[in-house]
Amino acid sequence: MAKFSFRVLHALSLITLCASAAVSGRSKLPLPAPLGSYSVGTTSLEMIDHSRMDPYASTPQPRAIMVSLFYPTTDTHKPFAPYLPAKLAAIADQYLGLPAGFIESIQPQAHLNARLEEIPDIPIILFSPGLGAAREEYTILFEGLASYGYLVIAMDHTYDAVLVEFLDGTIVLGSPDINGDAQSIDVRTKDSSFVIDQLSNKTFITQIPGIVHRTFKESKIAMFGHSLGGTTTLSVLEADKRVLGGVSLDGPIFGAEEELGINKPFLMFGRDNHTRCNDPAWAEVWKHLTGWKAEITLAKTTHFTFTDIGAVFTEAGLIDSLDPGRSMYGSIDQVRATVAEITYLKAFFDFVLKRGKDTMFRHSDPAFPEITIV
Ligand SMILES: *[C@@H]1O[C@H](CO)[C@@H](O)[C@H](O)[C@H]1NC(C)=O
Ligand SMILES: *[C@@H]1O[C@H](CO)[C@@H](O)[C@H](O)[C@H]1NC(C)=O
Repeated sequence: MAKFSFRVLHALSLITLCASAAVSGRSKLPLPAPLGSYSVGTTSLEMIDHSRMDPYASTPQPRAIMVSLFYPTTDTHKPFAPYLPAKLAAIADQYLGLPAGFIESIQPQAHLNARLEEIPDIPIILFSPGLGAAREEYTILFEGLASYGYLVIAMDHTYDAVLVEFLDGTIVLGSPDINGDAQSIDVRTKDSSFVIDQLSNKTFITQIPGIVHRTFKESKIAMFGHSLGGTTTLSVLEADKRVLGGVSLDGPIFGAEEELGINKPFLMFGRDNHTRCNDPAWAEVWKHLTGWKAEITLAKTTHFTFTDIGAVFTEAGLIDSLDPGRSMYGSIDQVRATVAEITYLKAFFDFVLKRGKDTMFRHSDPAFPEITIV
């Protein structure tokens, strides 16, 4: 498949489905409740890398990105966060042909600017989205992982992401020229290392609600990404020794650089029947992984099952009318899919960051018959 078509597909998946969601009215659409024992807090931060000019910006300016943090909290009197910032939600409704207020009706489970729970050396998970995707499209996974005691930092790669809203309300549209080539991966990799650098920047840290005196110096870091975000994860694992392991959700989509060599734990988590046995690009990546590695698939899914969208439309009672053949999201129960994704992601991050066991990747679990160990 041509590189460009992944971006188009991603945009189309939103447009076609959201357009017919117009019938749904505007009652709140809560995201699935997180399974872990913590409640979840979230905040969005703007980060400016003064050491790097933005290669995509039309005027000379330092690279600026937005990140969302999702983290455990017990501070539940704070209001729930919006799914998208207000201005972006309104634009996205219009952009996608939705009735005003549809996206605003999506109700995350995370409390906005709630205090971060005091967990010593809280383990950190970095996330990189698919080409053209927005970080918010994976909120269910972030809330799920945060509820198990992880600090999740989800990046938007400005100009690569379809729409980014900065804190002053500036909206930056994605550029159709960004196609997942080596430059895209390079920018995404530098974004990732910059975010990790900032974990020892006091000014940055004090922007995070309720953690003025904290440092993350001893926190262990791992990473995951969807689609091109999986390619990004491989690249970051190779480039940045601070990142200890990674997961690719149904990526990488374009294979690996020939010189790739990674001896850190890596999980390839594919859609239905997408394995190294039938994807030469995956076989190539597999060969270059010299550390702990595993590959699993999730039955009855597609590339886009790994975003929130199918689950949101299921919660809205609209999945059958919006995706009747389930060619876009797959025939799996979409909310159940998020449970399986979160459970196996948690097992991997527990293994890499919390000295957990890797049993779930060695033996199939009767509780998750839809997961195949390849
Ligand atoms: C530290 O963080 C602040 C706030 O985000 C930022 O303005 C500053 O440039 C950062 N410092 C470095 C060295 O990156
Ligand atoms: C899995 O993929 C292979 C190769 O692409 C194909 O031959 C096979 O029919 C697929 N199996 C299922 C169950 O879709």
